[in-house]
Amino acid sequence: MRKPFIAGNWKMNNTRAAALELVNALKPLVADVSDVEIAVAPTFTCLQDVAEALKGSNIELSAQNISYAKNGAYTGEISADMLKDVGCTHAIIGHSERRQYFGETDHDVSKRVRAALDNNIIPIVCVGETLAQREAGKTSDVVLGQVENGLSSVKKEEAAKVVIAYEPVWAIGTGVTATPDQAQEVHAAIRLKLAELFGADNAAAMRIQYGGSVKASNAKELLGQADIDGALVGGASLKAADFSAIIHAAK
Ligand code: PGA
Repeated sequence: MRKPFIAGNWKMNNTRAAALELVNALKPLVADVSDVEIAVAPTFTCLQDVAEALKGSNIELSAQNISYAKNGAYTGEISADMLKDVGCTHAIIGHSERRQYFGETDHDVSKRVRAALDNNIIPIVCVGETLAQREAGKTSDVVLGQVENGLSSVKKEEAAKVVIAYEPVWAIGTGVTATPDQAQEVHAAIRLKLAELFGADNAAAMRIQYGGSVKASNAKELLGQADIDGALVGGASLKAADFSAIIHAAK
């Protein structure tokens, strides 16, 4: 049985005071939730303050990226050691915004995933097709290619820890959500690919989140699909009540 996992990707929002206000508002709303794993991913500058605020709570801390390098001359990057030092347990890797605006490739993703796993940080690996790719009938090729190449550094015995987030690029921040059927179809295909790569038992254990305009009003139906094991939530994670409603919908 896979435990649903809801993560909030705050993207480039919130200074420290706003970040603290948000987590402090969220904590009591989800304090009674034990059957759903919960994480928030603030910007790097807020991680330490948010980590302090989350101590003793049921909310985990994720980074929005992680360097593949251990340390050294990598201006602008943040290493796994640094993330662990401020209390991160998870890192989002290969988000479509990183791929689109910052040129990250599947090869970068696989290196970042390796660095995360080597340092006991759970990677949340994002995959998803653009609208043009979907319309050209290339959704499975694109998404399954991203899964295979992005996870090429993962060993069979560690696969079960890895979280995948299927986020159709056309659904991110647009208000347009994949229908539950559209999402389930891709999630099922991803799980088959995971079985091919890591074996059926690992594939059955791995969580696949859906992301792209998830909100309280559509969460229940999406999360009710057989292969949708949680959500990576952007916009709606910036309001404690909205994010909490999504978490409660996952119970
Ligand atoms: P959204 O973002 O919920 O605002 O569409 C999701 C994401 O990019 O992770």
